[in-house]
Amino acid sequence: MADPEQSNADQLAFWNGPGGPIWVARQDHTDITLAPVSDALIALAAPQAGERVLDVGCGCGASTLDLARAVGPSGHVTALDISAPMLAEGKARAEAAGIGNVTWQQADAATAALDGFDLLVSNCGLMFFGDPVAAFSHLRAAADPGARMAFVCWRSLAENPWMGVPMNAAARHLPPRPKPDPEAPGMFAFADPKRVSRILTDAGWGPPQLDKLDVDLDIAAGRGLDEAVVQSTQIGAVNSWLRGKPADVVAAATASIREALAPYADGAAVRLPGAIWLVSSAGG
Ligand SMILES: C[S@@+](CC[C@H](N)C(=O)[O-])C[C@H]1O[C@@H](n2cnc3c(N)ncnc32)[C@H](O)[C@@H]1O
Repeated sequence: MADPEQSNADQLAFWNGPGGPIWVARQDHTDITLAPVSDALIALAAPQAGERVLDVGCGCGASTLDLARAVGPSGHVTALDISAPMLAEGKARAEAAGIGNVTWQQADAATAALDGFDLLVSNCGLMFFGDPVAAFSHLRAAADPGARMAFVCWRSLAENPWMGVPMNAAARHLPPRPKPDPEAPGMFAFADPKRVSRILTDAGWGPPQLDKLDVDLDIAAGRGLDEAVVQSTQIGAVNSWLRGKPADVVAAATASIREALAPYADGAAVRLPGAIWLVSSAGG
């Protein structure tokens, strides 16, 4: 198992380094692609007027703004993230939308100083902790009695062709990679439902309910095949893999991604299957 402190340092460096600015630049496109996931999260969380919500790993605020609208002026959202550029983007979007009931807090959720909350929500932002049990214990300690938790996380890579198809296409042009540790912090770290249940119960949350949801994700965001190819090289593992590679390798990988995605093109959309867990728990 990777050293938790090193993992946390790597995440901090990534989301404030190469990852953050790319997510900011691609936020508009990514929000459209992932709208079915965000919508499912809000339906699961069912935020109520007047509630105090903690949005962990809020990024550029894809769900934060919906949560803020739902809880209304008598409620409040704390939007927590380690990424300065993504928080700045979220804050700017909230200001542009006239939303004032959000506090944007830059801190590691595993150790952040937190006020109490009624509802913990996360849109794919909880899979990056070096020591997940310690992190969820910390969050539980901050929760008000009876607080609810609702989050979404990805199922396995094999169940997520919207990521897997471009990855397999790019991988053909790159040296073989060691098999990834399925529990290492990252996008697919919560794919195993037994592991998620174990982490949450070990951290003192009530036994969670995990429900499967399959979604179709338009990775073109309605902007055509070329945009789907650009998006696939910018967000996710392919971006890390291609960073710093020779131009001919990048060009060959990009051409293969285009070829692999072309069969999914349907007008201006390029829809591929995605698979998430809807996770909910009480007992904060
Ligand atoms: C996949 S992005 C999701 C962002 C956003 N929720 C969305 O749906 O667009 C994951 C987010 O988790 C944040 N993150 C990773 N580790 C974190 C930690 N330990 N504490 C707080 N945020 C963290 C990252 O900075 C990033 O913004």
